[in-house]
Amino acid sequence: MKRQLEWGFLLFAVCLIFVIRFGVLEGSSGYIKVNLLSTPSLSRVRENWVPGLEGNTSAPEEPRIKLSDLADPPSPPRNSTSRNQTVNIWGAWGGLKLVLNGSNLSNEMMEGFREGINAWRGLKQYFEEGEKPKEKGAEGCPFSGSSTDNSGRLEFPCGLIVDSSATVIATVTGGTGSFKFELVGTRGVGDFRAPPIILHYGVRILGDKGTDEPVIIQNTWTRATDWGEEERCPYRDDSNKKRKQVDGLDVCIEQVGKAMTWKPQGERVSEVTKWSGVFKGPEKPKTWFPFAEGMPFAATLWVGWEGFHMTVNGKHISSFEYRKGLEPWLVNKLEVSGDVKTSSIIAAGLPTSERWEEAAVLEVFKAPPLPPKSKRLKLFIGVFSTTNNFDRRMAVRRTWMQSEEVRSSNVVVRFFVGLHKQDQVNKEMLDEAKTYGDIQLLPFVDYYDLITLKTIAICIYATKHVTADYVMKTDDDTFVRIDAVLAAIKTRRSPRSKSLLLGAVETNAGPDRGVNSKWYVSEQEYPHATYPPWAHGPGYIISNDIAKYVTKMSAKHGLQLFKLEDVAMGIWIDSYSRKQRRGIEYLNNPFFISAGCEENYTIAHYQMPRQMLCLWQELKTKGIPVCCN
Ligand SMILES: *[C@@H]1O[C@H](CO)[C@@H](O)[C@H](O)[C@H]1NC(C)=O
Ligand SMILES: *[C@@H]1O[C@H](CO)[C@@H](O)[C@H](O)[C@H]1NC(C)=O
Ligand SMILES: *[C@@H]1O[C@H](CO)[C@@H](O)[C@H](O)[C@H]1NC(C)=O
Ligand SMILES: *[C@@H]1O[C@H](CO)[C@@H](O)[C@H](O)[C@H]1NC(C)=O
Ligand SMILES: *[C@@H]1O[C@H](CO)[C@@H](O)[C@H](O)[C@H]1NC(C)=O
Ligand SMILES: *[C@@H]1O[C@H](CO)[C@@H](O)[C@H](O)[C@H]1NC(C)=O
Repeated sequence: MKRQLEWGFLLFAVCLIFVIRFGVLEGSSGYIKVNLLSTPSLSRVRENWVPGLEGNTSAPEEPRIKLSDLADPPSPPRNSTSRNQTVNIWGAWGGLKLVLNGSNLSNEMMEGFREGINAWRGLKQYFEEGEKPKEKGAEGCPFSGSSTDNSGRLEFPCGLIVDSSATVIATVTGGTGSFKFELVGTRGVGDFRAPPIILHYGVRILGDKGTDEPVIIQNTWTRATDWGEEERCPYRDDSNKKRKQVDGLDVCIEQVGKAMTWKPQGERVSEVTKWSGVFKGPEKPKTWFPFAEGMPFAATLWVGWEGFHMTVNGKHISSFEYRKGLEPWLVNKLEVSGDVKTSSIIAAGLPTSERWEEAAVLEVFKAPPLPPKSKRLKLFIGVFSTTNNFDRRMAVRRTWMQSEEVRSSNVVVRFFVGLHKQDQVNKEMLDEAKTYGDIQLLPFVDYYDLITLKTIAICIYATKHVTADYVMKTDDDTFVRIDAVLAAIKTRRSPRSKSLLLGAVETNAGPDRGVNSKWYVSEQEYPHATYPPWAHGPGYIISNDIAKYVTKMSAKHGLQLFKLEDVAMGIWIDSYSRKQRRGIEYLNNPFFISAGCEENYTIAHYQMPRQMLCLWQELKTKGIPVCCN
């Protein structure tokens, strides 16, 4: 019996060696035969090296934009239905025009407006054509997509959202052993210039100028900034070995590029080593790498909260944190090219708009009509959302927007959404806005750099179109217990004599001066060492006098447009307090959870649509605020 076991083990060990030798490493040893110094292969390597910009450098002139192009939101047709609709959809648009005219806007903001004007041109016509019966089976935003024609490309007509994924099934072919996956951004309407590369995922099995070892290079490209800083996997040197994580996943798993040597243990196995020596010369260490020549693979690129993640044959390999202005909603297509034969690309979890056919259920999800200004609301809630987050908005409508206070119009909720560069998304969003009556469209492309303008838009809307005691800002991935928020407001000590900022208040935070930090703030942007008190962005509440002040000052260009909107609000409140000698009550509440969900939350952040539904269900059935995971 014992003997049998030992033989079994020996056999197993031999098999293992075969598998490793010929299964995993054989592919990668093949490429060493390519003569790197022969001219054709060198030039091919170079071609794939720093990814060349395929495109036309002598592209047409940038379309010239006049701010006056933005001047008029769609002129309201003369009859009343449409006029109401105009207020329903473009209520903050006019106010933002004043901000645009004369403010000291950053380049990023100007770019957002400029592209917004282009996007608006496409949408304007669609709007003015007016109601048309929706064709059955008309092209919308599909939930999934696939490409099986070996073209190596797949388009995403409505961008990507968190949890979207694309799986590429392909085989590495011979040659230079270089190939790339690229997530390419959207070319705006009437824009002929090269679109940004939101993720360049380059694989060099032969290594590149920096190394002979196989390497994965991740990067971005934009017209304005060219290629960004390369992120290499494995890391080039030990200095940046601080294993960074994105969404809790390693930016580059340790195993990539690690030497793999077969270390036999014990006497019996040494016989195996002898055997293996017959097949192959002396052992050389090989490095582990997820791709090898001749090897088929299934690579899944998926969208997280903080970055893109790459899984190869079911194993997480690398992650890439989103860079400024290069976010997943902007992605227009995936392109696979180089020495790789793609058999299919399958995408799932794409942003898709609800089909409007279920008219019966629909009524409950429509916003009640905007109450007249004479009605005093307890609270106005502005929800930040981006264009293609159809599912998040729908989850909010199905859950906390069903609260009694909202249905009875004591609390009014509106989404604040910019424009997308893809026409299809804007059209779907406009249809959604008309159907549900709870969306405010803003005249700029929805880059993160412009969110401070959204905060201003909320203040403008809350001042011009409703009368509310308090104004709350939140996000479309935040679950809000409206009754708990109203109860939290009631805990204030001095409602009459002071203004309010309520939420997760920070009193001692300062700017991050680390140049490589995601939250880097330069001295020029903010010279002081600490910020005035501010409250975390997923949910804070201000009293209406602050909203009025922000609205008034925005038209006079008197606001510092600091890029972090929640801190910006803190700065404005501080200047309000100084200029008008107004006392501010900073009310910190520990149940405004901005880092996720905790029991007894008043607001919970980072909630996916299915979690929102679960939280709502728990509240309804158990009556207690517990979390869902
Ligand atoms: C580059 O753009 C110019 C001007 O638009 C055009 O005439 C030319 O054919 C383009 N070249 C290529 C290679 O596309
Ligand atoms: C309102 O205007 C639209 C188009 O501008 C028109 O089709 C519709 O009949 C008008 N409605 C009324 C009530 O006049
Ligand atoms: C438009 O809004 C006003 C109140 O602002 C309301 O009285 C009127 O009925 C609305 N008209 C339509 C057609 O909904
Ligand atoms: C823009 O501002 C200038 C002065 O700063 C003013 O003369 C002009 O009327 C403003 N334009 C609009 C559309 O408000
Ligand atoms: C506009 O902002 C830049 C830096 O953001 C600053 O250098 C410049 O002085 C400002 N101009 C005005 C008119 O405020
Ligand atoms: C949540 O609230 C309940 C009731 O007030 C309390 O018994 C429980 O301890 C609270 N849980 C946490 C984690 O604070």
